[in-house]
Amino acid sequence: MKTLYKGLALALAVILFASFFGCAASKTPTLDKIKKAGKLVMLTNAAFPPFEYLGDDNNVAGVDADIAAAIAAELGVKLEIIDMDFDGIIMAVQSGKGDLGVAGMTATEERAKSVDFSVDYVSTTQMIIVPQGSPIKTAEDLSGKNVGVQLGTTGDLFATDYIEGAEISRFKTGSDAGIALANGQIDAIVIDAMPADQIVAANAGLVLLDEPLTEEQYAIAIKKGNDDLKEVVNKVLEKLLKDGTVDALIEKHMAAAAN
Ligand code: ARG
Repeated sequence: MKTLYKGLALALAVILFASFFGCAASKTPTLDKIKKAGKLVMLTNAAFPPFEYLGDDNNVAGVDADIAAAIAAELGVKLEIIDMDFDGIIMAVQSGKGDLGVAGMTATEERAKSVDFSVDYVSTTQMIIVPQGSPIKTAEDLSGKNVGVQLGTTGDLFATDYIEGAEISRFKTGSDAGIALANGQIDAIVIDAMPADQIVAANAGLVLLDEPLTEEQYAIAIKKGNDDLKEVVNKVLEKLLKDGTVDALIEKHMAAAAN
């Protein structure tokens, strides 16, 4: 009996010891890790102009890249950008593949179960793109039609949840959807307003309907618990919002991406 108690006491001690140091290790502030690595890693999907697109030099350019560069500068580290599928970004932030998901990403309640979000930095809506002369004039007219979206986006969610009897074509990028619409393979696209403008500008014969479909806000995704990083991200975003930089970046990249 005595040895059993001893054994139990020892096991308890081991568990307490391990959990104490386990917690201590996971509490190493994220900022220290980033500064030690000398780089801030941004995860994005560079097919979403003006927020992210491949520039002339094939590097990722856009509003989000510039915002992330300002955050890296604030931390005194360089910025590394990983271009990946949009629908993998949340998981990659969770697993620590990168520090920030900056991807014109709408802060939704569902996503907030998996990651933390910064303050909002853009207010926008989903829009409908159709070919000129299309019989589709409102969201109701999308019923039973073939609607193109970017896989895993809020446009995908809207089309899936709210359009009755629609066939949803899920594309890797909005521009692939734009080409399919211009070629008559689908009837309409549901996508964020500013990328929608870019798709219309890039493809002759496409037009935007006036009706906004949703109200959504973009925010930066951060691994849950990385509060020290979130604090810096919010500080930089608040400054860039207040001094007009975010608006100026949108204007600049709307023009640049359209070229
Ligand atoms: N705002 C939409 C969403 O969060 C679309 C974002 C797509 N972003 C991108 N970089 N492809 O679902």
